[in-house]
Amino acid sequence: MSIGAAYLAAEGQEEILAEELALAGRSITIWHGRLALSPEPPMESAWALDVWTDPREIEIASVKTAADALRAMQRNWSSYGVEHHRRMALITERLPPVKARALVFPEPAPSGHLGAWTLLAPDRMLASPTKTSAFVNGECRFEEDHIGPPSRAYLKLWEACTRIGVWPRPGENCIDLGASPGGWTWAIAKLGATVVAIDRAPLAPNVAAMPGVSLRQGNAFTMEPEPVDWLFSDIIAYPDKLLELVQRWIAAGTTARIVCTIKLQGATDHAAVAAFAAIPGGRVMHLFHNKHELTFSWARGDATT
Ligand SMILES: C[S@@+](CC[C@H](N)C(=O)[O-])C[C@H]1O[C@@H](n2cnc3c(N)ncnc32)[C@H](O)[C@@H]1O
Repeated sequence: MSIGAAYLAAEGQEEILAEELALAGRSITIWHGRLALSPEPPMESAWALDVWTDPREIEIASVKTAADALRAMQRNWSSYGVEHHRRMALITERLPPVKARALVFPEPAPSGHLGAWTLLAPDRMLASPTKTSAFVNGECRFEEDHIGPPSRAYLKLWEACTRIGVWPRPGENCIDLGASPGGWTWAIAKLGATVVAIDRAPLAPNVAAMPGVSLRQGNAFTMEPEPVDWLFSDIIAYPDKLLELVQRWIAAGTTARIVCTIKLQGATDHAAVAAFAAIPGGRVMHLFHNKHELTFSWARGDATT
């Protein structure tokens, strides 16, 4: 069996990843834990946390030959362990340490080159010197704030901004659709940007009291596009309804950037996801902090980093 690419699904998202790959004409030979091994060349995947783009199967006679083979290819490796944990630990000990430190937002994602490897069997290693995520197994972790934000949703905003490499700057204007109880609004205001929170429900009092925060009670879907630097949305809505909203704001030309959550209840609307992905300047990704949902980001052609 030759392996052309390996796709790492997030916990519980294996089936959806398999659907996405099948729709794109990719087959899965076998699953190794959450890692789908596919014979065809790699493709961009919205649902994979990480894609191993150059996987090589290597016969290994010993722990030492495995570590030597990896070191001969490059310095930095992260492992994805499913079984043979003891042997994997012994190989890891022989490799230069790679620190998967939690990020302190806002700070850039790690920029060092990172490969990934696993043991398919005690004597068979799969190693890919290249992969799409800068993070170990696609896990973008942060030093969390357990006091300020009223919900954990702010981690999605932090991760989306970290992955696109840009976040609201002091003085920029933002709209946060479906903002209550205020995790995203808190994260935006903490960056020093001004934010208009739109929701029918109120914000947590500590967020409502932050400088730069104002609440407008209303329906996000009937709101006319306004001039802003960033449009954020974490509304719970059908993907096609959100797509319409996003297309309306893009067509109006009043926003420079968009970050929004595409919530997928029940059967996944792959057609709507594909429509988001087809928007020029847009990108659809599954964040480590997303559940059964995706994140869409978009930048107008003239948006600067
Ligand atoms: C998942 S919560 C948002 C959580 C928020 N991002 C945070 O960080 O705390 C979704 C919110 O969308 C709001 N919502 C749903 N439909 C809406 C609409 N049509 N207009 C405005 N808000 C809406 C709900 O009231 C709810 O507060």
